[in-house]
Amino acid sequence: MDKIVIAGGKPLKGEVMISGAKNAALPILAATLLTPGLHVLTNVPNLADIRTAKKLLANLGVQFTDLADGLQVDSTGLVSWEAPYDLVKTMRAAVLVLGPLVARLGKARVSLPGGCAIGARPINLHLKGLEEMGVRVALAHGYVEASVKRLEGAEIILDFPTVTGTENLLMAATLARGRTIIRNAAQEPEVSDLAKFLRAMGARIEGIGTDVLIIDGVRELQPASHRIMPDRIEAGTYLAAAAITRGEVTIRQAPVEHLTAVIDKFLETGLKLKVEKDTIHVRPGGALVGVDIKTMPYPGFPTDMQAQFMATMSLARGVSIITETIFEKRFMHVSELRRLGADIVVSGNQAVVRGTKTLQGAPVMATDLRASASLVLAGLGAQGQTEVHRVYHLDRGYERLEQKLSALGANIWREKA
Ligand code: EPZ
Repeated sequence: MDKIVIAGGKPLKGEVMISGAKNAALPILAATLLTPGLHVLTNVPNLADIRTAKKLLANLGVQFTDLADGLQVDSTGLVSWEAPYDLVKTMRAAVLVLGPLVARLGKARVSLPGGCAIGARPINLHLKGLEEMGVRVALAHGYVEASVKRLEGAEIILDFPTVTGTENLLMAATLARGRTIIRNAAQEPEVSDLAKFLRAMGARIEGIGTDVLIIDGVRELQPASHRIMPDRIEAGTYLAAAAITRGEVTIRQAPVEHLTAVIDKFLETGLKLKVEKDTIHVRPGGALVGVDIKTMPYPGFPTDMQAQFMATMSLARGVSIITETIFEKRFMHVSELRRLGADIVVSGNQAVVRGTKTLQGAPVMATDLRASASLVLAGLGAQGQTEVHRVYHLDRGYERLEQKLSALGANIWREKA
């Protein structure tokens, strides 16, 4: 297993280009299952999770061809309708094949995703919605076995605006008979990017970007082309990297319009930043002040930025109270940040961060994707050397992280652990 080593304390300087969004590319890859034919996807990020998704789809019969500027996806011949345990356990987003397989083939056998470092992460809302569309769902030997003659449109009210739950039901509804209304739908930009791809395939969807999605099913869809939207969480992570090192960084191809809650909070800390169309300029300024955040479904402050913001607050002046409302265990990074000298106390779903003057480099352990990002950020801001172990977590969601940070002047490299 690799480790990432950082010699911290150096302000970042220069420009960074944001890649395509992992959490848009994953549902859009799954959506290609809805119809036979050749799709072309561009701006697909080169990440471990994307490679896992391609392996899963290849097992189902999908064929991929790398083009000069994109990825050709041939979903003509499906030979299986099963998402096996070994793939789902490494990437729970594999459950996103459930809706498309049921819609295209009338059946699917998908391993129940286990829990993960940040929570139990059940899929009961996905299954409840599919049952309301007429799908027979059985749980057997750790697998969801779903079957239906023809999906029926339904009015679905989600108990919680689940992102992949909304995406699974949205994809299924495109080929259902009649109208489906999904209320309390997730409004994350990645859901909208999926909806735009589905519309390009001929789906009839209204309410994109709102919490009520109205889908009128069609008999069949056609393959389409789509450029994956930029990754707002990657952009927010580089914003935090500039902030924690008091650097001077220009973030290009940033989806500024999807980062308002994050940008507002960084402005509240005193971070000097200027926003243009799809560019964020961060300039060095005085010490940051502690600011409270509470993670919420979009358009609130994203849970996927909570760990990165906490790392930044550990070097701010004053106190920051961080409330995590989305996942029940998303403070796994706290004990590791404390090893670097951060003063953080957790009580229930709140973490109280008291800013310290410095952090000291130390060996730390990554536990999940965004926690490992927060440890890299803290290492950048710390004095001395930090080693982040189990960086396979990072590789799932960040494209060429150490190359992009090195290009910004960071002393960061990868070693065999
Ligand atoms: C998506 O996960 C993202 N993953 C996550 O990003 C992100 O943290 C999360 O949304 C919240 O924004 C992808 O898009 C691939 P949820 P998802 O269903 O869909 C509960 C990253 O770092 N819930 O919105 O799994 C659940 O337990 C990853 O890129 C149910 O109770 O999240 C959780 O508490 C991490 N029953 C809450 O809802 C269900 O059926 C949010 O879950 C579904 C969810």
